Amino acid sequence: MGPRHDFDREWREHPTPGSPALWVTRAWAPALQPGRVLLDLGCGTGRHSLAWAKAGGIAHAIDASAAALAAVAAACGALPVHTRRLDLDQSHHRLPRADVVIAARILYLLEAPLQLVDRALHAVRPGGMLLLGDQTTLLDEVQQHLGGRASWQRASASHLLVRPLVDALPDATPSHRAYCATESS
Ligand SMILES: C[S@@+](CC[C@H](N)C(=O)[O-])C[C@H]1O[C@@H](n2cnc3c(N)ncnc32)[C@H](O)[C@@H]1O
Repeated sequence: MGPRHDFDREWREHPTPGSPALWVTRAWAPALQPGRVLLDLGCGTGRHSLAWAKAGGIAHAIDASAAALAAVAAACGALPVHTRRLDLDQSHHRLPRADVVIAARILYLLEAPLQLVDRALHAVRPGGMLLLGDQTTLLDEVQQHLGGRASWQRASASHLLVRPLVDALPDATPSHRAYCATESS
């Protein structure tokens, strides 16, 4: 599957979401509580958004493919999953803030993947996490790019769990900074 893959056609032919990836559900388990928010970047047919919302969370599912979003809407019914059609290579759109942001198998399709990583990092709420699943070499680049702005755990060669450090977050309040200082001491 290359960058020119016709996802619209694929999702029209196969609209049913599969199961969420195990590394994702393991990583987000401590964060998944009723009312918590997931941002699912390049959601495809919404396997992660659907699982999150079924467990009581709220999801924002974003993709460039109209067929993908139609499939998400059909699968999620009345669950709180908000779909939005966006080209994630365009950086002028504001991304919703979320407790967990996930970009699973999307970065390798973008012209400027590191730019999306930066925007995704800023979308993470204090205490939250960014989950990236992608090609090993690309995730190596991401780790280098993040430098001291985040701590990370490489769950496997192709899975990266990122926790932004508090100073990298736009809305970290003084009390949140104090809390983080206590937690890490
Ligand atoms: C390999 S699928 C992954 C789907 C989903 N994340 C998953 O893990 O099942 C990649 C998705 O990224 C979307 N995509 C590709 N380029 C995009 C772009 N520039 N902006 C938004 N979505 C894009 C495609 O439409 C497709 O649904």
